[in-house]
Amino acid sequence: MLTRWTRVWCCGFLSLSLLGLLGVILGAGHTQAAKHVDQHHRVSRPTEIMPDGQTAKEPWGSKQPGLGTSKKEMTSKKEVERQTVTKLDCPPLGLETLKIDDFQLHASSIKRYGLGAHRGRLNIQAGLFEDDFYDGAWCAGRNDPLQWFEVDARRLTMFTGIITQGKNSLWSSDWVTSYKVRASNDSHTWVTVKNGTQDIVFLGNSEKELPVLNRLPIPMVGRYIRVHPQSWYPRGGICMRVEVLGCPLPDPNNYYHRRNEITTTDNLDFKHHSYKEMRQLMKVVNEMCPNITRIYNIGKSHNGLKLYAIEISDNPGEHELGEPEFRYTAGSHGNEVLGRELLLLLMQFMCQEYLSGNPRIQHLVDETRIHLLPSINPDGYEKAFEVGSELGGWSLGRWSQDGLDIHHNFPDLNSILWAAEARKWVPRKVFNHHVPIPEWYYSKNETVIAVETRALITWMEKVPFVLGGNLQGGELVVTFPYDKARSQRRVQELNPTPDDHIFRWLAYSYASTHRLMTDASRRVCHTEDFAKEDGTINGASWHTAAGSMNDFSYLHTNCFELSMYVGCDKFPHESGLPEEWENNRESLLVFMEQVHRGIKGVVRDIQGHGIANAIISVEGINHDVRTAADGDYWRLLNPGEYKVKASAEGYNPTSKVCEVGYEIGATQCDFVISRTNLSRIKEIMEKFGKRPISVPLRHLPQHYPQRQQQSQAQLRSPADTKLFSGGSKLDISEKD
Ligand SMILES: *[C@@H]1O[C@H](CO)[C@@H](O)[C@H](O)[C@H]1NC(C)=O
Ligand SMILES: *[C@@H]1O[C@H](CO)[C@@H](O)[C@H](O)[C@H]1NC(C)=O
Ligand SMILES: *[C@@H]1O[C@H](CO)[C@@H](O)[C@H](O)[C@H]1NC(C)=O
Ligand SMILES: *[C@@H]1O[C@H](CO)[C@@H](O)[C@H](O)[C@H]1NC(C)=O
Ligand SMILES: *[C@@H]1O[C@H](CO)[C@@H](O)[C@H](O)[C@H]1NC(C)=O
Repeated sequence: MLTRWTRVWCCGFLSLSLLGLLGVILGAGHTQAAKHVDQHHRVSRPTEIMPDGQTAKEPWGSKQPGLGTSKKEMTSKKEVERQTVTKLDCPPLGLETLKIDDFQLHASSIKRYGLGAHRGRLNIQAGLFEDDFYDGAWCAGRNDPLQWFEVDARRLTMFTGIITQGKNSLWSSDWVTSYKVRASNDSHTWVTVKNGTQDIVFLGNSEKELPVLNRLPIPMVGRYIRVHPQSWYPRGGICMRVEVLGCPLPDPNNYYHRRNEITTTDNLDFKHHSYKEMRQLMKVVNEMCPNITRIYNIGKSHNGLKLYAIEISDNPGEHELGEPEFRYTAGSHGNEVLGRELLLLLMQFMCQEYLSGNPRIQHLVDETRIHLLPSINPDGYEKAFEVGSELGGWSLGRWSQDGLDIHHNFPDLNSILWAAEARKWVPRKVFNHHVPIPEWYYSKNETVIAVETRALITWMEKVPFVLGGNLQGGELVVTFPYDKARSQRRVQELNPTPDDHIFRWLAYSYASTHRLMTDASRRVCHTEDFAKEDGTINGASWHTAAGSMNDFSYLHTNCFELSMYVGCDKFPHESGLPEEWENNRESLLVFMEQVHRGIKGVVRDIQGHGIANAIISVEGINHDVRTAADGDYWRLLNPGEYKVKASAEGYNPTSKVCEVGYEIGATQCDFVISRTNLSRIKEIMEKFGKRPISVPLRHLPQHYPQRQQQSQAQLRSPADTKLFSGGSKLDISEKD
């Protein structure tokens, strides 16, 4: 059965497409289309009577106050034009998203298996070594005008356009400069797209990466479509990556289309949101759920767009003692847009479900402080959004306005820690965690360190996050730190953190609950088969990268951060969003719930005051965490028994055994630690204003060696000011 969304979408679209077409024929297309924009500015989901007489639900939030303004904002001329264009198009069949499977792609001939028809998909990427099974296009076995590339839509389809690209390659240049198009119902009799009596020769590509769209002047109806290259780049050959635009037509005798149809019963706003629309939607969520949400921003992009976040918690605006903080971020690469929409969907979903009394969501909201930041790089996003879901290629909008890759723009603390480890300074002289940011990093200007990165760092230092996920695109896999290889010359090298076990679990918790990630029978996105590794991979063993958000978060803060690559297609068509939501919804929730694994508690002094910056060490794991301002801490751990030590400067360390069970819910493990005699003496002396006394080093607690101050003098970290400046001075000085 066709599902609700598919139906709403397909039929709404179809009627609009036909309407647009009719309009063109009558010479009144623009007026008609523009009128429709006003009536249903959500192009893909107009409220409509469906074939069986049901009325589609109003788009989520459309009756909310405030949307009036958004409508006004949206009827700017550019928006109308954009939407008019969108409306006349049919959606992509899904060569890029893999909705079209390998067996639906055929070709007259192939150069070799790695360049077979199954590789002729828009935006497919070649492997590192291009002469293997995973090359960057379909290439014909011969370069002559008899070659063709065929897509079997497996159902009657109204084809409306073809998008082509050349071969993805570092070394060679191959693309098709012109082609004809044919359609068929049986793959024997073919009808060529004509202009009157002449076959139309469409202009193709003029370089390898930029996608070029050709609309068919009159849509062709059929099941099969073929692209026939007529000319190609003379110094290369016939190679193409293709996407086909087409609207599925009712085809009751065809059994194929009943498979693979995914639906959602969630009534959410399934569309791509421009910056203004995103802000508006967040406002609507906030108005609908004022008691559990709060909107704030962490700073501005280069172009001055605010980096908005929404907080979801039973007491928004404050950190509650013992309640862990969680974050999802998305869109550090502006063209990887699915994460942004998933977070916008997630906030709507959580608000709705909380209001309707879903116990799982209520529990999560009551016990967790959740932060969702849907767009880290709004400048990049606007560029990608401008050209839309199919024509941006692989990288338009990826970088910040300054051309920086925000996700890999963080200070490389790995090298600093590993250098200290090599000298055996860890953990005696240098901490195995909270590695300070080197001074040089701060002295760099905007052309080196993006303003967005700085905003993120300040946010990451300010909020005591425990667990985070950043949503990326273009693959289907979850990566966990380290992202940087230890050996300098290795491109790929397994490099686990001391917390490898829990990181693997965290990654698996997302991947295994995703609808596709761990499906061993699914086709690989590009070149690598991550399903073999349960849909997860250590970042460095995929490809090494220095200065990643994940490594930085782990080494500089308490927060364990992972990357979720949520889809092969970086910018899926709007019509694919309901399915992508279904693919990811459970994973998004399950991963958030993992923040409640391991142990948590409060470190207090004898008087019952929480101690900030106390260190929690787990025996056998060479990576500590610290308490937040009120003395509360969270330590993510897999089930097991752990010997845990709490220590703080001026206090006697205390250890205890804490047990972590299998069920979710962190084990409470509180500590009371007493002042050391030395620190009490120091305090008394300070009170009485004695002259400076030099304290012999051996009396100091081992964890706060004095020389740390010298070895790290050139390093600085706001989070650590207390430890490295005033707080750790051991000379007892006279007050003036
Ligand atoms: C395929 O069949 C449909 C009707 O079933 C017809 O409208 C269309 O023209 C046919 N297409 C081709 C290419 O023959
Ligand atoms: C079709 O023919 C008309 C004139 O006959 C011409 O203006 C138009 O550009 C042609 N279109 C294509 C796609 O070749
Ligand atoms: C918000 O909380 C107030 C006071 O507890 C309550 O009266 C109100 O119904 C709540 N609003 C919503 C939308 O839940
Ligand atoms: C920013 O720093 C780079 C090198 O670090 C330098 O080349 C550039 O001129 C600086 N730009 C500005 C605006 O200061
Ligand atoms: C601290 O001082 C008390 C007496 O005030 C003494 O009994 C205790 O042994 C001392 N503790 C240490 C660790 O030196």
